[in-house]
Amino acid sequence: MKVTKAVIPAAGLGTRVLPATKSVPKEMLPIVDRPAIHYIVEEAVRAGITDILIITSRGKSSVEDYFDRAPELEDRLLASGKEDLYRQIIDVTQMANIQYVRQQEAKGLGHAVLCAKSFVGSDPFAVLYGDDVIISPPDKPAIGQLCEAYDRYGLGVVGIKEVTPEQILKYSSLAVEPLEGQTYKVTDMVEKPAPDKVLSLYSILGRCILPAEIFSILEETPLGAGGELQLTDAMRTLTLSQGMTGVDYIGKRYDMGNKLGVLEAIVEVGIAHPEIGEGFKDYLREFCKTL
Ligand code: UTP
Repeated sequence: MKVTKAVIPAAGLGTRVLPATKSVPKEMLPIVDRPAIHYIVEEAVRAGITDILIITSRGKSSVEDYFDRAPELEDRLLASGKEDLYRQIIDVTQMANIQYVRQQEAKGLGHAVLCAKSFVGSDPFAVLYGDDVIISPPDKPAIGQLCEAYDRYGLGVVGIKEVTPEQILKYSSLAVEPLEGQTYKVTDMVEKPAPDKVLSLYSILGRCILPAEIFSILEETPLGAGGELQLTDAMRTLTLSQGMTGVDYIGKRYDMGNKLGVLEAIVEVGIAHPEIGEGFKDYLREFCKTL
């Protein structure tokens, strides 16, 4: 069954990028000239997703404003002959059918996904974490690679990557067995493992495809690490009951919930930017000589 719906949880507190995220959602931090969430919606659309639910919260209305029309600005751009910019801001409003729901309290990623229950209904759906920007070749969006694995194996899919021994303690750790190419059978998982509970250095990074059964599982899942409802805990139940597939996707992930991740994204996307890329490289070459 083709995946056409996606959920983007973007209601977290973003405490790792404070104080900026006190008033600017981390999902709205700009990477050159677009907010992080623009790249995420673009990735979903490239994979054939048509309907997107963004989970927001208090103080995140700028996310809705970004994908909404802006008549005064549009009129001004047209009147001053800036057709190109006009087209760009209209295109943003037409990327997909985007809806919103508020998570009233930040009770964890699993709780945020549970807020999507009535939007999703009985269809399998994609989850794109709102602070994980993944840049892949344009014809190979990361979530599209997961959709292919869903079509092939008919099981829920997690996007996975190997991380460092320090990072694994802050993320999730998976037990995997190779299937073919970049694809693995997932046999177990643990969120924020204690050092003696690490299963491997493979972690879930930013993307998954889930069957609608995940909602009844989430409703039964007790609070986990950090006193939050953890999506990984519910996916573990799914893994043990029906299995899940892991895809080590092609693409580079930038963690926009982390100061260093924000800088990496800006530098690397900036270098490839058609308008300012060359000038930025010249600047960096000179600047690096001073380091
Ligand atoms: P994170 O755990 O990275 O978000 O969740 P956080 O809670 O904002 O993290 P800190 O405070 O910097 O440590 C990954 C994604 O899930 C969303 C976040 O907005 C982020 O995009 N999220 C997290 C929710 O929507 N609701 C939550 O309750 C928690």
